[in-house]
Amino acid sequence: MKAVCIEKFGLDGLALVDRPDPLPPKKGELLVKLKAVSLNFRDLLMIKGLYNPAQPLPLIPCSDGAGEVIAVGEDVESFKVGDRVVGCFFQNWVAGPYQKEYGKSVLGGPLDGTLAEYIYLKEQGALLIPSHLSFEEASTLPCAALTAWNGLFEQAQLQPGQTVVVQGSGGVSLFALQFARACGAEVIFLSRKDEKIEKAKKMGAREGINIAQNRHWSQKIRELTGARGADVLVNVLGVDLDESIQSLKFGGMICAIGILGGFKTEVDVVSILMRQVKIHGIYVGNRSLFIGMNRAIEKLRIKPLLHEVFPFHAYKEAFSLLESGEHFGKIVIKIVD
Ligand SMILES: NC(=O)c1ccc[n+]([C@@H]2O[C@H](COP(=O)([O-])OP(=O)(O)OC[C@H]3O[C@@H](n4cnc5c(N)ncnc54)[C@H](OP(=O)(O)O)[C@@H]3O)[C@@H](O)[C@H]2O)c1
Repeated sequence: MKAVCIEKFGLDGLALVDRPDPLPPKKGELLVKLKAVSLNFRDLLMIKGLYNPAQPLPLIPCSDGAGEVIAVGEDVESFKVGDRVVGCFFQNWVAGPYQKEYGKSVLGGPLDGTLAEYIYLKEQGALLIPSHLSFEEASTLPCAALTAWNGLFEQAQLQPGQTVVVQGSGGVSLFALQFARACGAEVIFLSRKDEKIEKAKKMGAREGINIAQNRHWSQKIRELTGARGADVLVNVLGVDLDESIQSLKFGGMICAIGILGGFKTEVDVVSILMRQVKIHGIYVGNRSLFIGMNRAIEKLRIKPLLHEVFPFHAYKEAFSLLESGEHFGKIVIKIVD
């Protein structure tokens, strides 16, 4: 089978290789012919050796993929040949709180990922695709969508009428915008680009703030919320945490998700306790949450926003686009027609 491998760290270390064709799946596993793979910022970090410099290579990158079941192993009960499925980011995190060992079951590092013609998924590590979604659309759900869903609804318990601040226009952020609007919450959208703010408004954002032009954007958020502050902030930047804290109401929640602006930041501890802000780390989510999210996506007919779909051979261009940050919507690689 054809697969893309990280042979050495760096985008130049990616190569399209031939791997042995898959054998029949083992007990409790599915063999899936992948149709589409979506890219996440994490994949770029993994490729560059910044996510885990000790990751053994070669590795097939990417955590997210959707395809068709072509064989099932012994004891598999919930899937059959022909089912349209999407993989779970954590193959072993089914439900309940996170445990350290689940980190060993992540596709795209440490386990081989989805940028290949075939993959074995555990029965507990796959889900049926919502019926109104294409393979390309469904491939965007396992990491970006589930992370946004977990932050907003499981951790922050978002309610209709509340206000959510969403940072940047990446995959997680646009799902957060769509989910928040679907539940009747208002969104204040932060971006470095006016044209992306206009697009976000067309998707239902109430207001947008250009953070490249407004270094102290929390003041603006306070003006827009009648001095009360927002209820929830989806933090994908990592840096400027003081601005995030000052943006929130007393007792508001920061969903700490990303590190786009850097791995470390200074923070005024006094403002955390005076504002009684909660900072909740999010690590994607478990299968049980994924099931609930898919149910909502199906019932509400939510469609993931795709920026561009690349053919398999153009995988390097797809990662370069992700690296540029120019996209507005998910970047997808189509594995087969
Ligand atoms: N904790 C978890 O479970 C989890 C899960 C998924 C993702 N993440 C993390 O969340 C972050 C977002 O991931 P993603 O896949 O959604 O990313 P993405 O699609 O690559 O996001 C790109 C967007 O973020 C904004 N951006 C990028 N670099 C920036 C910078 N230096 N300063 C300000 N804005 C910047 C840009 O939006 P504008 O052009 O509009 O400014 C850009 O279009 C990443 O750090 C990723 O590692 C964490």
